[in-house]
Amino acid sequence: MAWHASVLTLFPEMFPGPLGFSLAGKALREGRWRLEATDIRAFATDRHRSVDDAPFGGGAGMVMRPDVVDAAVGAALAGGDPARPLIYLTPRGVLLDQAMVRDLAAGPGCILLCGRYEGVDQRVIEARGMREVSIGDYVLSGGEPAALVLLDACVRLLPGVMGLAASAEEESHAAGLLEYPHYTRPAEWQGRRVPEVLLSGHHAEVARWRRAEAERITRERRPDLWARYEAARRQRPDASPADAARGGPGAGITRLPRAAGAA
Ligand SMILES: C[S@@+](CC[C@H](N)C(=O)[O-])C[C@H]1O[C@@H](n2cnc3c(N)ncnc32)[C@H](O)[C@@H]1O
Repeated sequence: MAWHASVLTLFPEMFPGPLGFSLAGKALREGRWRLEATDIRAFATDRHRSVDDAPFGGGAGMVMRPDVVDAAVGAALAGGDPARPLIYLTPRGVLLDQAMVRDLAAGPGCILLCGRYEGVDQRVIEARGMREVSIGDYVLSGGEPAALVLLDACVRLLPGVMGLAASAEEESHAAGLLEYPHYTRPAEWQGRRVPEVLLSGHHAEVARWRRAEAERITRERRPDLWARYEAARRQRPDASPADAARGGPGAGITRLPRAAGAA
């Protein structure tokens, strides 16, 4: 069965959007994954087809109604594998990272709820056991761009989507490090030479240089990742960097969170 993404949104026409292009688009056309975007408004019951209302307690903005969202979630669950995680994209969520993406890509798919306005009534988030996930510490005007980001990151990991599987093993975050720099022809451009070691044909030297560069860049740019990487290496000194970064308590890898009160 193809990896199955259901997106609940007030703007279904935003999908597949950028996911209709390049690797993700080709994989979609080849049936390696499925995508449905469902209009939450289709589940509104009043004659104005309202999906939102004013917040109890006052304040600015509107809140998405629990009854309407709940009906949309029910339809998505009924339309696919009920084991798919149900995710509400929100800046209040746990930060999306590569470990979470790997977990999701290894499963049957996901159901993504995109908020608008001030967000979604908390009761339906809890009643449906939604996992709350953020794509970064900034506020978007809606969950749709966040859903596109999450889906893009997952789909490229599905079997057969990326040409060279090895590239997923080497890239940023795979082993808890940022990736080393890349170079291509010409070997000299505007007086800048490609590092000599990359022209040497000496594979072990190239691998050593790349590892050192990955470590230097991570140390300089992301002290938070570097501290986790070092802790993982201290805990599992004999493991490969990728395994050390993935494995065990203390490795600092974020697993997909379960909502409080989840069934
Ligand atoms: C204007 S935002 C609501 C922000 C909310 N009032 C808050 O302060 O947390 C509207 C919707 O955009 C989506 N969104 C905004 N920023 C996001 C982020 N960093 N990650 C994931 N989704 C986000 C969520 O679905 C949210 O319900």
